[in-house]
Amino acid sequence: MDYKNMSIYQIYPRSFCDSNGDGIGDINGIISKLDYIASLGVNAIWFSPLYQSPNADFGYDISDYVAINPEYGTMEDFDRLLSEMHKRGLKCIMDLVINHTSSQHKWFTESRKSVDNPYRDYYFWRKGTGKSGKKPPNNWTSFFIGSAWKYDETTDEWYLHLFDVNQPDLNYQNPKVLQEIKDILKFWLDKGVDGFRCDVITILDKTPGLPDGKSSFLTGSEHYIDNKNMFNILKELKTDVLSKYDTFTVGESVMINVPRALRYISEDNQVLNTVFAFDHMDADNYFGVKQLVRKFSIKKLKKAHERWQTGLYGKAWNATYFENHDQARIVGRYCSDEPQYRVLGAKMLATVQMCLSGTPFIYQGQEIGMTSIRMTNIDDYQDVEAKRSYNLMRKIFGVKKTMKNIAYASRDNARTPMQWNNSPQAGFSVNPKTWLKVNPAYPEINVENEKNDPDSVLNFYKRLLKIRKENKAMIFGKYELIKTGGNKLYCYTKEYEGQKILLAANFTKRNYKFVSPVAANKTELIISNYPDSPKELTECVLRPYETVVYKLL
Ligand code: NOJ
Repeated sequence: MDYKNMSIYQIYPRSFCDSNGDGIGDINGIISKLDYIASLGVNAIWFSPLYQSPNADFGYDISDYVAINPEYGTMEDFDRLLSEMHKRGLKCIMDLVINHTSSQHKWFTESRKSVDNPYRDYYFWRKGTGKSGKKPPNNWTSFFIGSAWKYDETTDEWYLHLFDVNQPDLNYQNPKVLQEIKDILKFWLDKGVDGFRCDVITILDKTPGLPDGKSSFLTGSEHYIDNKNMFNILKELKTDVLSKYDTFTVGESVMINVPRALRYISEDNQVLNTVFAFDHMDADNYFGVKQLVRKFSIKKLKKAHERWQTGLYGKAWNATYFENHDQARIVGRYCSDEPQYRVLGAKMLATVQMCLSGTPFIYQGQEIGMTSIRMTNIDDYQDVEAKRSYNLMRKIFGVKKTMKNIAYASRDNARTPMQWNNSPQAGFSVNPKTWLKVNPAYPEINVENEKNDPDSVLNFYKRLLKIRKENKAMIFGKYELIKTGGNKLYCYTKEYEGQKILLAANFTKRNYKFVSPVAANKTELIISNYPDSPKELTECVLRPYETVVYKLL
């Protein structure tokens, strides 16, 4: 698949569009918006899980991999969605969550019944430790905080869950598990889906014997992150299934860095087409923990981009993003969300992303510059991660600081309903009881307003996506970070087959002088977020969040 020339829109189905008035988004709602999505100029949609799920982690806990969540519709609805997408030239990328299942999946409910159940070995069941046998089998901790083990009375044993207790980890040392997964992949590919976004895909392989971990943070992670057999598992999936179809795969990986990524995505021996990096999303937190909020550092962002853009160049392919269902809205984090700056900032970040090499992912609402809701009452949150971090962090930091950080960083900030227009519930649903609160910013920030405004964030995204198709240096160019502007300006060039572009962005609310760092005979402005940016690259003053891209001739 020509994934290098693609751009992908991500839908969080629960929050996109509710067609039947139950306050929850659904497939028919999505179908009603396909023309809108196609009009953006993207080539594919990645759906966060549509499968049957008891929603402990809203779809990332799957109880049946070959059934649609009835809240979202039926398999017939899905088939229609797929065919309507293909009619519009949109490819369909499904989420693939195979590190764990739901605790309500048949494999798990069976496996829980007895030590000799045929499904017992699909999961990690172990005896307790300590004198009384009442301690967990090892010291591993969960991504959602606390021990990664849960005791189960039925057989007096514990099971491993690296995420929520309702998300038991599958055991890939048992070859039957991989066989099941292959069958699931085939099921969807035979239907005609075009690829997969692979959830926490680099942690499937756990060290045999599950030894204690040594690190104090994410204890045990050295025994499952990019483990010895991980590449082989993915290779097998590719050889036996994926390579038989025309597919695209993007891996979500844990604590990934360039050398680790190259193991999977190196073009000479690829088992995934690309992976998501994380470090560029950590420019406003400490230690990669989003709730440990710090002031945004543009230097950290620049360094992260430089590492990935140069590290993969000529060897592998990037996936770029600023938002997804696990991240608070980027406006309000990497730029101000104050009304006078929001549009400028959203356009600045859009430009920075679209000029990078890699397949761009745009998360629903990013294209209209949606902002975080920042709820201050923990009872308003639906996300298991927010609830669990609240319970732990308030003991350390106190309720006030904890709530402030959760309000800033929580995933629910990205999951509030999509803002379609200024009617009640933002046009997302006719039901005033939406599953998660609607962001009160919707009368101002919504698709309808932006469609009608030529200077909106929405129309800017459309322009950018079009320009990107025409300027190969944006997609394929060799990135060079220009060391200028410290913690205020971001400047880089991209060069491809004799074409060169330069991007300069002012990440602050103040004016900054910008002197072109590169020589060129002639320059031509390709795009900017102010109507009157200089047509040619000269010494200039970049205004708040002003971003310019020039072709260097
Ligand atoms: C990553 C997903 O993006 C996130 O939403 C989920 O909670 C975890 N993986 C567990 O599946």
